[in-house]
Amino acid sequence: MEKDFDVIVIGAGPGGYIAAIRAAQLGKRVACIEKRRNQAGEFKLGGTCLNVGCIPSKALLASSEAFEIASCHLNNHGISVSNVKIDIAQMHARKDAIVNKMTRGIEFLFRKNNITWLKGHGSFTRKTDAGYQINISSEDGAELVSAPNIIIATGSKPRHLPFLKVDNQIIVDNEGALAFDSVPKKLAVIGAGVIGLELGSLWRRLGAEVTVLEVLPSLLGAADLSLAQEAARQFEQQGLKIQLGVQIGKVSAIGGATTILYTCKNNHAQKLETDRVIISIGRIPNTANLDLEAIGLTVNNYGFIDVDHYCRTKLPGVYAIGDVVRGPMLAHKAEDEGVLVAEIIDGQKPHIDYNCIPWVIYTEPEIAWVGKTEAQLQAEGRKIKSGQFPFIANGRALSINRSDGFIKVIADADTDELLGVHIISANASDLISEAVVAMEFKAASEDIARICHPHPSLSEVMREAALAVDKRALNI
Ligand code: FAD
Ligand code: NAI
Repeated sequence: MEKDFDVIVIGAGPGGYIAAIRAAQLGKRVACIEKRRNQAGEFKLGGTCLNVGCIPSKALLASSEAFEIASCHLNNHGISVSNVKIDIAQMHARKDAIVNKMTRGIEFLFRKNNITWLKGHGSFTRKTDAGYQINISSEDGAELVSAPNIIIATGSKPRHLPFLKVDNQIIVDNEGALAFDSVPKKLAVIGAGVIGLELGSLWRRLGAEVTVLEVLPSLLGAADLSLAQEAARQFEQQGLKIQLGVQIGKVSAIGGATTILYTCKNNHAQKLETDRVIISIGRIPNTANLDLEAIGLTVNNYGFIDVDHYCRTKLPGVYAIGDVVRGPMLAHKAEDEGVLVAEIIDGQKPHIDYNCIPWVIYTEPEIAWVGKTEAQLQAEGRKIKSGQFPFIANGRALSINRSDGFIKVIADADTDELLGVHIISANASDLISEAVVAMEFKAASEDIARICHPHPSLSEVMREAALAVDKRALNI
């Protein structure tokens, strides 16, 4: 017999599983459809983020950082260690244990909140009198379910080069790059975006000679120019080779060796020989195979589902959230949209300020920002003032040996309202939260400048940068 629910969520990534939990908290009868299986063939919750994205990448980044500190940075403290080695199998076992703990945690939360987990591929079949019908298919068979409210949270998958087959052994996307069984001697990364820089840094720290090939003439186009320039300088100093303005020609893989033919800015033909290649040139929304047309929904030219500010599609009761809709492809953005939609279905009036969604890139140093860049504000014709303060003048940064980078605060020239905060430093991922709170509450730079910050702490740089907006930084 066909089962019916109040809310059906398709996809159990951070958007989908959070939407399901919030809807269940609000008393709805909720089902969540997820088709993902791990390598052992077990169905898994958590989506890209927990299985092949945020969590495994951060686990490996932490291992590689510990390795680099032990190999290169302990001398400075008077600690000598020799013969530092990394056991790659153990490194992956640690990562897999973290992923397993997290995905099992969501299974627990589903049980706790009485959410029905429907295992298999979901696709629309038709509109019904009361809502929408979805077919769930897997090797075990098929089943039909229906609900008046549907949340599409099917996420995204890696974009590949049309002429290059990804085997996830030698030519890999994020999945393969998080599972290399040994450190490649030479590694090429195509695309200097977030994945390319994080995963390129990860394998460089473990000893790979990494070359990053980027089609654009500059790095990190979405970041404030000052951060992008500082990041490029520091990455190069660390030994990451970055080539900009690159056009990839032919890539061939024979046995364990790959050859990439490409041209650089000056059109000079180049050849790069490596053991492995990571393709990290962006991600595309998972909207194919949903049979959206069965309910009269279409996707836009880029494959995204069009939604309004509140994640509503043009069909009543059908919502879409996370990587499958406009906006940054970030786990916390997907989560916030999940809560938003569940509360809308409950008749509440929630709100998201998309200008206050922070970005963090987990390189070393970390890069984080919230709000607008100086270039964006100038393009809008906004009158601004800004202040910047370096970590080299901060006692805590010096004491932990992490004095690279700075914080830049941008405020409105007349009202002093905070418009953007940009950080490149150790722990930028945590430091940025103060700026997010301040911007959500429409604070002025003066507000941060007047708040007492603990000493010694990296957060004092935030206060100093805010003071610098008014040209009254104290410690420089
Ligand atoms: P997803 O997490 O992609 O989940 C969608 C789920 O839907 C998938 O499990 C999929 O199997 C399932 N699905 C798809 N179609 C169907 C169907 N028809 N039927 C049933 N199930 C279906 N973001 C951050 O904020 N911070 C980070 O540090 C970060 N690191 C990342 C590192 C890497 C290597 C990658 C690849 C991404 C990273 N991201 C990070 C981005 C983040 O993972 C995504 O933005 C986030 O997972 C999007 O959540 P989502 O719920 O929209 O989709
Ligand atoms: P991206 O959009 O961040 O970067 C892709 C890069 O590849 C761009 O710089 C682009 O110019 C370049 N590129 C495109 N085509 C190319 C070509 N043919 N040759 C050379 N370069 C080319 O995409 P990425 O790194 O794949 O990550 C996808 C998304 O996943 C990110 O945008 C982000 O939303 C999310 N993510 C977030 C993380 C975080 O929050 N820390 C970590 C990893 C991913």
